[in-house]
Amino acid sequence: MSEPSLKKKLGALRRRIQFPFKKRRILRKIAQLKKVAPHGEALARALSEVVERRVEPGERDRIARIEALRADFPKLAPLPAGSLGPDSPTFDLASFGVKSSKPPIWDLLLFKLVRTLRPKVLLELGTCLGLSACYQSAALELNDEGRILTVEGYPAFAAIAKDNLRSAGMTRAEVRVGWHEEALPGLLKDMGLIDYIFLDGQHEDEPNWRLMQLLRPRLAPGAVVVVDDIRWSEDMERFWKRVCELPEVCISIDMKQVGLLVFDKPGPKSEHCEIPLHWLEKYPGSPWCSKG
Ligand SMILES: C[S@@+](CC[C@H](N)C(=O)[O-])C[C@H]1O[C@@H](n2cnc3c(N)ncnc32)[C@H](O)[C@@H]1O
Repeated sequence: MSEPSLKKKLGALRRRIQFPFKKRRILRKIAQLKKVAPHGEALARALSEVVERRVEPGERDRIARIEALRADFPKLAPLPAGSLGPDSPTFDLASFGVKSSKPPIWDLLLFKLVRTLRPKVLLELGTCLGLSACYQSAALELNDEGRILTVEGYPAFAAIAKDNLRSAGMTRAEVRVGWHEEALPGLLKDMGLIDYIFLDGQHEDEPNWRLMQLLRPRLAPGAVVVVDDIRWSEDMERFWKRVCELPEVCISIDMKQVGLLVFDKPGPKSEHCEIPLHWLEKYPGSPWCSKG
C-alpha cells in the first residue's frame, strides 16, 4: 500500500474511533442551548438531530428526491458562451454546481432549522442551482406552512434552480432574478416581516453589511439569520464579528463554517457560543443512516 493511501486509511480509522466521544461532547454543548431564549429548545433540537442524523421517514423521502438532483450535477452540460453576460466564455456548470452547493450535512442543518423553528416568511440570498432552497422548501412542505423567496443574480442559474424546485415537487418556493442590493428594497416592500434568512450570496464583508442594514428593520422579533461561509476569508470573518455585535443580536452560534444569529429587541444580555459542526462532513458511514 502506498504511503498516502495508508495515511488516508489511518486518518479515517482515527476519525471513526474519535467520533462517539466527539459526538457526546458536542451533544452536551448543544443541550445547553435549551436554556437560552428565544428558540433555545428548537435550536437544540435542530442541531442535535443533525449531529445524530435523525431523519423521519417522510423527511427521508423528500431528502432523497433532492439528493437525486445533486447526484446528476456532474452530468450537467456546459452553459454556452454569453450565458452569464455578453462576453462570458463557455461555463462549466457541472463543476460549479458540485462546488458551489453546500455539502449535504449543512443542507440538513437548514432543513432541520426550518422544521423546528417553523418560520413563515423566509428569504434566501444566493440561490445557485437551488439545492439549499430545495432543502428549506422541503421543510416548509412538511411543516405545511410558510413560503421562501430565493434571489439569484444570474438568470441562467435561477432558471435551473426553478426546474430543480419544480422537479423536487416544491410548491412553497419562488425564485427571483436580481442583484441583491439593487433588488432587495423592492422585494422587501412586498414581504412583510421576515422570520428566517439564509445569507449565501456575495462572500464579502461590506456588501453583506449593507444587505444587513437593509434587512434589519424588516426582521420579525426572534428572526433567525443563517450566514454561510463565515470562515471563507478574513473579510467574511470580519463580517461575522461585526454582525454578532449588533445590539439586537441576542444569540450567536459559531458552527465554524456556518453562523446563526437570533435577532430580538436590543438588550444587554447576549449569548455567544461555539458549536463546531464542520467535522460532521467527515462522519463515517452513509449520510442518512439513523432510524426514523
Ligand atoms: C454559494 S452560491 C449559493 C449556494 C446555494 N445557497 C446552495 O447552497 O445551494 C452563491 C450564489 O449567489 C449568487 N450571488 C453572488 N453574489 C450575488 C449578488 N450580489 N446578487 C445576487 N446573487 C449573487 C451567485 O451567482 C451564486 O449562484
